Amino acid sequence: MARRDERELWVALDIGTSKCRVLVGQVMPEGHMEVISEGVAECRGVNRGDVVNIEATITAIRRAVENAEQLGSCRIGSVNVGTSGPHIQGHNSTGVAPVRGREVTQKDVESVIDAAKAVLIPADQRIFHVIPQEFMVDGRDGIHDAVGMHGVRLEARVHLITGSEGAQLNVRKCVERSDLVLDNFFVPHITAAEAVLLPEERALGVGLIDIGAGTSDIAIHRGGAIRHSAVLAMGGNLVTNDISMAFRTPAPSAEQIKIEHGCAWPQMVTGNDVIEVRGVGEGPVRQLSRQTLSEVIWARYDEIFRFILRELRRSETDEMIKSGGLVLTGGAAAMPGVVELAEQIFDMPVRIGLPHNISGPDALLRDPSAAAAAGLLLAAHRVGLQRPRDSGANAAQWLKGVKEWFAKNF
Ligand SMILES: Nc1ncnc2c1ncn2[C@@H]1O[C@H](COP(=O)(O)OP(=O)(O)OP(=O)(O)O)[C@@H](O)[C@H]1O
Ligand SMILES: [Mg+2]
Repeated sequence: MARRDERELWVALDIGTSKCRVLVGQVMPEGHMEVISEGVAECRGVNRGDVVNIEATITAIRRAVENAEQLGSCRIGSVNVGTSGPHIQGHNSTGVAPVRGREVTQKDVESVIDAAKAVLIPADQRIFHVIPQEFMVDGRDGIHDAVGMHGVRLEARVHLITGSEGAQLNVRKCVERSDLVLDNFFVPHITAAEAVLLPEERALGVGLIDIGAGTSDIAIHRGGAIRHSAVLAMGGNLVTNDISMAFRTPAPSAEQIKIEHGCAWPQMVTGNDVIEVRGVGEGPVRQLSRQTLSEVIWARYDEIFRFILRELRRSETDEMIKSGGLVLTGGAAAMPGVVELAEQIFDMPVRIGLPHNISGPDALLRDPSAAAAAGLLLAAHRVGLQRPRDSGANAAQWLKGVKEWFAKNF
């Protein structure tokens, strides 16, 4: 989005059900990405990953961008955008192209991938990403780079991620009406993986699940590529709603109780801790045991995990990730006890995925909800299609802002 003193800045805009998060990253001379500014704003225009209110989404985007601009003393002109939604679906496909005994060229690879894209998808959907899994030359599989090999017949296995064109146009409209240029569009199961997964995990087989406020995004990696992906319309908002209903308290108070006192594994709650709960309207303040709260939270997480398990079994990918296990990201993964509960349900190792392939303030690197945005920066840099443009701030101002932000966050 900007060039300042020959430094390239990259911008990620993660449009989520609960908030819009902007990260500004700089590629350091040694080559790694460092987050130099962040802006977060509550979002009321998105439901289960989908834009349902354009004006409210624009307000959230503008606020998040302004916050990041102020903190980093830079002007943001264009953004790499990540969004989710149950309309986003994953499909495996195979393409075939003749080589007729000569060497496979880059052009052959492009045409076989094009052939793999020729699948029947509903008229309102379009292909967002094409992720090559492997190539086969005359039936010999496991080839990652087919260029230069000899054969008669080239095949490509790919994972296609499709989604609703209308939903993507709504996101584009919100971004453009916030006076920003949309550089690239990513889905979170691709981006979060960039920030949290290790190459050996991706090779061995690992499942990444980003549990946000409105959706749970599932991506199964093996052999270095995505083998299966799906989005379930379930997330942390359901837990908040349950607390709100069970204890007859308004949603903001339920959210606060959940974050301050929640636990998804009732065995971890010891003693007789009591929490004060505000009633609806003028209702009296009541007392609630932390054990009871934990049972309500456990029941919903248990249900979400069982839906995910069903998806893994349906797609026959559960066995693929038995040794690598699961990595959980997204704000809902910050709930104490989720690892214990998930290990019991999935019967495999589970860990929380924190952004580690990137540097930045400690608070950001400890936050699983930041994984998607952090990975978005890395994915944007990798794809390298972002258009550089001039920043409006002067160098001294920019440096001052960065120093203040670091002083506050480290
Ligand atoms: N410490 C915490 N403990 C439990 N839940 C938390 C915690 N912090 C955040 N959450 C929950 O995480 C959810 C927000 O996560 P996140 O920021 O990843 O979602 P999002 O990106 O806005 O939504 P989505 O990806 O579903 O569109 C909310 O439901 C929130 O209540
Ligand atoms: Mg999200």
